[in-house]
Amino acid sequence: MPLVGTKEMFKKAYEGKYAIGAFNVNNMEIVQGITEAAGELQSPIILQCSAGARKYAKHQYLVHLVKAALEVSDIPIALHLDHGPDFETCKSCIDGGFTSVMIDGSSHPFKENIELTKKVVEYAHAHGVVVEGELGQLAGIEDDVNVSAENASYTQPEEVQEFVEKTGVDSLAIAIGTSHGAFKFKPEQCTRNADGVLVPPELRFDILAEIEKKIPQFPIVLHGASSVVPKYVKIINDNGGKLADAVGIPEDQLRKAATSAVCKINIDSDLRLAMTAGIREHFCEHPEHFDPRQYITVGRSYIKDVVAHKIKNVLGSDNRAAEVMALINK
Ligand code: G3H
Ligand code: 13P
Ligand code: ZN
Repeated sequence: MPLVGTKEMFKKAYEGKYAIGAFNVNNMEIVQGITEAAGELQSPIILQCSAGARKYAKHQYLVHLVKAALEVSDIPIALHLDHGPDFETCKSCIDGGFTSVMIDGSSHPFKENIELTKKVVEYAHAHGVVVEGELGQLAGIEDDVNVSAENASYTQPEEVQEFVEKTGVDSLAIAIGTSHGAFKFKPEQCTRNADGVLVPPELRFDILAEIEKKIPQFPIVLHGASSVVPKYVKIINDNGGKLADAVGIPEDQLRKAATSAVCKINIDSDLRLAMTAGIREHFCEHPEHFDPRQYITVGRSYIKDVVAHKIKNVLGSDNRAAEVMALINK
């Protein structure tokens, strides 16, 4: 099966009130863990590579790993550039086989963001590739960019219609309180539940509703949507790790978002935590092991577990592969 774009995925996700998981990939075992889970659950997926992933693994390796995943599975897979920093990076991915790119102009003033995004859209559409733009700034860390909570800003609903119309983007990433990384909120921003677990402030569903009114039926993307699954944080900390006060977005809020216009939910940190938990646990149980296949196998299976959990309990995208394929083949 060839790589697919995201248009049909988002149409079906919108109508069916679910979301497509966009999982960050950096190496073979991450690709395998994600696609094994998605294949067994018959879920469409987006595999996405950041500029950092391309620097780490090299573009060609990533493209070929994803193409190998397509050969061994029967689900629709899109290959997406995550947080494209400039036109050149987007062009290189478009020319190099990606089916979707994000141009992240969110740190630029509104008008410059429009100019840059429009330029990428024109090139991408001429090559059959779809584009995600971004308005509003999330807190947290992506590559070398660290946006403090004070500098983060919610998406302004009054800007979205003009942005979408002037740029021609196919989907829009918005800021409604999610944040990148495993430390999304300071403990003082949170309350503690009965089990002592930190509970962050609610996402701004009111802003999401306003945005939906301004651009009806338009696919919305949530970045920074890892839940920082407490189970994996505990395994890491119980096995020599030091991740105090790691906190993410509660899964019930993401589930609620997935039933709205949010059609794509980005997950990276939860994969990193799952893989690290599996490897740390394995090393503590088997300090004598040194064959990478032994410990990376465990990391890969933890990735598979967390992705299966997300597909069933957060995204609601299980058993949706067939309807997406049917629309693509129409
Ligand atoms: O949004 C950022 C993603 O988690 C990618 O992170 O730039 O470190 O690969 P990275
Ligand atoms: P997390 O850090 O919450 O996993 O977010 C990932 C992301 O938004 C990738 O673009
Ligand atoms: Zn992101």
